[in-house]
Amino acid sequence: MINIQRLSEHIEQLSRIGRTADGGIDRFSYTDHDIKANELVAQYMKAAGLNVHYDAVGNLIGSDEGTEDLPAIVLGSHIDTVPNGGKFDGSLGVLVAIEVIHSFKEQGIEFRHPVKVIAFRDEEGTRFGFGMIGSRAVAGTLTTADLQRMDEDGITIEQAIANCGLEKKSLSSTRLNHVKCYLEVHIEQGKVLEAKGAAVGNVTGIAGPLWLKFQLTGLAEHAGTTPMNQRQDALVGASLIIAEVEKMTKRYNSSVATVGKLIVKPNGVNVIPGEVEWTIDMRDIDEAQRDQLEREIKQYAEAVARERQLGLHVIELQRVEPVHCDKILQALIKESIQEIGETVVSLPSGAGHDAMQFKDCFPVGMIFVRSKDGISHNPKEFTAEEDMLKAAQVLYKTMVKLDR
Ligand code: GLV
Ligand code: MN
Ligand code: MN
Repeated sequence: MINIQRLSEHIEQLSRIGRTADGGIDRFSYTDHDIKANELVAQYMKAAGLNVHYDAVGNLIGSDEGTEDLPAIVLGSHIDTVPNGGKFDGSLGVLVAIEVIHSFKEQGIEFRHPVKVIAFRDEEGTRFGFGMIGSRAVAGTLTTADLQRMDEDGITIEQAIANCGLEKKSLSSTRLNHVKCYLEVHIEQGKVLEAKGAAVGNVTGIAGPLWLKFQLTGLAEHAGTTPMNQRQDALVGASLIIAEVEKMTKRYNSSVATVGKLIVKPNGVNVIPGEVEWTIDMRDIDEAQRDQLEREIKQYAEAVARERQLGLHVIELQRVEPVHCDKILQALIKESIQEIGETVVSLPSGAGHDAMQFKDCFPVGMIFVRSKDGISHNPKEFTAEEDMLKAAQVLYKTMVKLDR
């Protein structure tokens, strides 16, 4: 049924596009690597018997019309990466979905429902600091103002799309309306399945990411001549706040917070830092708790800025609500896991996924696959072939039930 060798080859071939010196992948949205990766995945979709097109924001969509006039079953994930990312995050979900469709087609099985496999554009948010661009567009929540967000070179999302040579279409044309459900396979990126000895898992919900950008402004002065008690050192202020972010977050049981990006200006050995900018990524499955943590962090940052005569400016990059997976889809996934002889493990997702964007549009379900040592967003990211096969089998069986 499932051709695991073909799936493994596809994972390997795709992972070569954007390969970094230490074996990771740099594949950021609308870049040449991203365009090449989409072209390759389009070939896999065509070989699986799907009709392929790009929508207005460059989502790659492989469609099967189905034999009846019914709402579509949508499968998907993303093929962009974080800086020096791994080869399974996102890519596995897209390639497993294509393999499952390919397998149905090879057996001559036709779908009653239309089926779509989507490789969403820019899930990670690496280039524009704003993720899930493609899935927002499909949900109908991406705005023309969002398209004016810029990358570090001042190129807007709109320009990046145009530079890709994509045909100009209205944003409203990307929205999918007649949809039965959305299903996504993804690596767990955590250690729960491994600890429980499970190859696959049923996802109960997805924690909501809140991304903030903090800017602290002091005075860039001579490091040799400015007395210690007369400085407005933006980096010292930032350090105090960043250290406190970790302490505060530890007091909340399900929250996590990360400062992943830091820019120091002018960044000279003998210059007091005059300006520091950093991001905070905060997540919780409990939105009220996450927002309470956000308030505490902001209050602390304001107090530090006041005391040290620094200017503070906080910008919200994205605020995504946590999502609960559909109960009926969860039941079908769990049944399918049992059918392949695996024990059922249900778990929430700490990572964000395109599925989140469909919260108010249609039911979503997710199947997780075991990650070795829970490592992800790292070249060492690894999922065993046997586990990929099981994930494909679970998706296959869930599709059978959904298409009845
Ligand atoms: C994507 O991987 C995210 O969770 O930020
Ligand atoms: Mn990721
Ligand atoms: Mn991902």
